Amino acid sequence: MNKITTTNINRKDGQAKVTGIATYAAEHQIPNLVHGYLITASIASGKIKSVNTQTAEKYPGVIAIFTHKNAPKISKPSNNFINSKIYEARLPLADDTIHYAGQIIGLVVAETFEQAKAAAHLVKVEYTSQKPILDPQKVTLKNAPSMFGEDLKFAKGSFATGNSTDAMAGAAAKITATYKTATELHAPMEPHAIIAQWQNSNSLTVYEPTQWVGGSQRTYSELFGLAPEQVRIITPFLGGGFGSKAFPWPHAILCAAAARKLQRPLKVVLSRRQMTANAGHRSQTEQTISLAAKTDGSLQGIEHTAKSYTSPVDVFAEPCTGITPAMYATPNLRTSQQMGVMNIGTPTFMRAPGENPGLYALESAMDELAWELGIDPVELRLKNETKEHQSRGLPFSAKHFAECLQVGAKQFGWENRTQKPRSLSRDGKLIGWGMAASTFPGLRSSASVKVRLLADGTAHVLTSGNDMGTGAYTIVASTAANALGLPVEKVRVELGDSLFPNGGMAGGSQMTASLIPAVMTACEEVLKTAQAKTAQEAFTSLRQSQRAAFEATGSSAPGEEAKKWAFQSWGAHFCEISLDEEIGRLQVTRWVSVMNIGKVMNAKTAASQVRGAVIMGIGHALMEDCQFDPNIGYPVVYDLATYHYPTHADIPRIDVSFVGEPDLNFNSAGVRGVGEIGITGVSPAIANAVYHATGKRIRELPITPDKLI
Ligand code: MOS
Repeated sequence: MNKITTTNINRKDGQAKVTGIATYAAEHQIPNLVHGYLITASIASGKIKSVNTQTAEKYPGVIAIFTHKNAPKISKPSNNFINSKIYEARLPLADDTIHYAGQIIGLVVAETFEQAKAAAHLVKVEYTSQKPILDPQKVTLKNAPSMFGEDLKFAKGSFATGNSTDAMAGAAAKITATYKTATELHAPMEPHAIIAQWQNSNSLTVYEPTQWVGGSQRTYSELFGLAPEQVRIITPFLGGGFGSKAFPWPHAILCAAAARKLQRPLKVVLSRRQMTANAGHRSQTEQTISLAAKTDGSLQGIEHTAKSYTSPVDVFAEPCTGITPAMYATPNLRTSQQMGVMNIGTPTFMRAPGENPGLYALESAMDELAWELGIDPVELRLKNETKEHQSRGLPFSAKHFAECLQVGAKQFGWENRTQKPRSLSRDGKLIGWGMAASTFPGLRSSASVKVRLLADGTAHVLTSGNDMGTGAYTIVASTAANALGLPVEKVRVELGDSLFPNGGMAGGSQMTASLIPAVMTACEEVLKTAQAKTAQEAFTSLRQSQRAAFEATGSSAPGEEAKKWAFQSWGAHFCEISLDEEIGRLQVTRWVSVMNIGKVMNAKTAASQVRGAVIMGIGHALMEDCQFDPNIGYPVVYDLATYHYPTHADIPRIDVSFVGEPDLNFNSAGVRGVGEIGITGVSPAIANAVYHATGKRIRELPITPDKLI
C-alpha cells in the first residue's frame, strides 16, 4: 500500500454474483408477466410491402402483434443528452422503411417466450428491396458533426494549429501511413433485456441493465409523457455494458410502449443474433497519420484524419482524432474526422470510443517513426511529452506519463530489447517486444448519495449510480467504511434504483470520480446530523435515544477546476508476443501495464479493470471482426462462438501497477477513474511487437493468422 492506494479488498458483490443471488434484469420474477419476441428485417434497404400476421395471431398463447401498421404510441424525446437520450433517433416501428438488416419491424407478445418466438416466425413480410450500401469504399464522406451539440466544437474531431503542411514538407524525417480497424461488438455477458411494468397508464417500472439510471428515468418519462417521478428504473446489477447500455435501444422503447398498450408486464430479451444488428457496435475506421520530426526525434508536425460509418437513422462518428492533441507536443497539428452512412445498425460508444482505435493508429505511427529515426520508442515518447492539452490550451493536472513509461520499461526489462526486427527467437518461434502509450480523459458529473446509520451498528449507503461489473459496490463500501471508521462488513450498499439519490452515469469512466466525493460528503453529513465524531458514537446515541437511524444526503459536482486544468489519465503497456510463422499462430506471452489514474480506490478491483481492458484490447488486436453479409447486410456473427474474442488460453499473466499521486485538483478524493484507459494502447503495443518479431508492419486489425504467414 502506498500514497495512491487506499484499500485492497475483495469484491463486495462477488459472492452474490458467483452464487447466483445477484438478480439481473430478465431474472426479476413478476406476476402475470408476458413475453415479447422481436421480428427483425431480413433485408438491409427498402420498404415493407406487406405484413401478414393472420397465421401468427392464431398461434396458441399469442396476445398481440405490433408492426408499423399498429405501432403503440411513443412521444418523440428531446434526445439531447440533458433531458433525454436514445441510441437511435428513429422511433421503433415509425414507418415502413428499412434502413438496415436486423432493424426491428415487429413484436409478438404471447403468454410464453416459446410461443412468442414460434409465432414471430409465422409472420410473413414482403419487401421492396434495394441494393444496400455496405462497402465503405463506395460511401460519400462528410465532415463529422459534433455528437454532443454544436457548442462542444472539438467533439467534431477537427483541430488545427500552426501549419502542418509546411512542417511535413520541410521535415528531416517523415512517415505517412493508413491504418484500419474492424467493426466490433460490445458482446457483454448479459444480453440486452427489459421488463416493463405499468401500474395503470401513468406509472412505469423498468427493469433493464442501464449504465445511467437517472438518464433512463428522464428518457422513459419523455417517451411516455410522464413526470420523471412516475418512472422507476431498477438495475442493481449489470453483466457488462461497455457503452452499449447507457440509453434505451429501440427494443426497450417498443417493449415499454407495448406493455402500456396491453397493461401487462412484458419482458423482451434480445437473442445474441439480434444483438449483433440492432444494439450497437464500434464502427470500423480508416485513419491516416503523418508525423514529421527532426533527427533528434522532436515532433514538428502531426496530421491525423479518420473515417468511420454510421447508420441512416442516427449520427455517431467514432471520435478517433479527439485524443491526438493531448498526446505529444508539436507546433503544427491538424486533425479531422469524417463520417459516411451505410445500411448498418447505429454504432455507439464502446470502451474508450475514439481513444482505442485512435491510439492504434497514432501509437503505431510513433513506432514507425522510432524505427525510421533509430530512436528507442520509449525515448521518442518521453522526448515529445506535452505539459498541456494542445486543443484546450490547459495544463494537465497530476500527469505522470513519464513515470508510467519509465516504471513500465524497468518492470518489463525493456533495456534488453534487441534493436533489429527478427532478432529474437525461442523454441523455434519468433519473439517480439512492443510498447505503446495509454490514455483516457478524467471526467466527472454531479452525484448524490444517502447514508444511514442504523441502531444495529451498520451503515447503509444508497445511490442510483450503479456497478456494471466495475467494482462500484466495493469502492463505495470501502470509502464509507473509511469515512465512518467501520469495518467494511458493517457497510451495506444498494445501487441502481431511481428511488435513491441520483448517482450519475457509469460511462466515460466517470462513476468513481463522481460518486466517491459524494460518499465522503454524505458520511461527514450523517456524523454531523448525529452530532458524533465517529459512527460508534452515533450508534451509542441511537441506542440511548431509541431512534432507528440517522440519515443524511451528500452531493458532489464538478466546479471551476475544469477551466484551469485538463484532467487526463495516462499509462503504458509493454508486451511480448511469440509467433509460429509457418502457421501464423500468434500468442501474447507477457504483459506489463503501468497506469496513472490519480488515487486508486481499491487496488484489487482497479487492477482487475485494467486486466479486463487489456484482455478486451487483445481481442480488438487479434480477433474481433464483425463482417456484414455483402448481399443481405446482416452481420455474419451468430453468437458468442462466432464472434471471436479471447479465452483464458489466449491471455498471459498481466502485471498491473499504478504510479503518480492523488489528483486533488480534480476532486476531494483525487481519483480519476479506470474503466476505459486499460484498453487504449493495447492493439498498437501488439502490432509494434509483431513488427519487432517479423519486420512486417500490420496496419489493419485484427491481426489474424493470414496476415502473419
Ligand atoms: Mo463507456 S464506452 O462510456 O461505457
